[in-house]
Amino acid sequence: MEGLAIYPGSFDPVTNGHLDIAYRALHVFPKVIMAIAVNVRKQPMFSVEERLEMLKEALAGVERVEVDFFRGLLVDYAVQKQAHVIVRGLRALSDFENEFQMAHMNRRLCPDLETMFMMTGQDHFYISSQTVKEVAFHGGDVRGLVPDCVICRFAEKHGRKS
Ligand code: PNS
Repeated sequence: MEGLAIYPGSFDPVTNGHLDIAYRALHVFPKVIMAIAVNVRKQPMFSVEERLEMLKEALAGVERVEVDFFRGLLVDYAVQKQAHVIVRGLRALSDFENEFQMAHMNRRLCPDLETMFMMTGQDHFYISSQTVKEVAFHGGDVRGLVPDCVICRFAEKHGRKS
């Protein structure tokens, strides 16, 4: 497919599930921007700067992918970047309703912008930023679920050795 795809999210923090979607989007699109939404209504664990650094580290050496952040509406950011498609990962039925609403709202706001969903891989469908944060908070093992740089950040946050 031609053009640029935006893969937006909170990425608080990035997980291996997110990376899987990004790699697969790179098989379809010549360029992908992973864009962190600065959501004033959410209380993130990691600052935007920390999330950017983790994404950059996790994607070091991967070509055709860019990391960025945006404030305000996703559609405004996508138009500004002249993107054609929004990519989102879909895990289970529970994701569907929210994604359905967002895709329709975004289409209403910007009819030229298409949302494309990718089914999360079978190794990742149970992983979410929320659950890895909870497991890491209680000292559980999240290796294999998040990139190594995220494991180090969890250790720093929780005052443990990584
Ligand atoms: O990783 P998340 O938290 O599921 O990502 C949700 C995100 C960031 C894609 C969504 O909240 C978003 O696009 N926020 C930007 C504000 C916006 O455009 N809202 C209208 C969409 S209904």
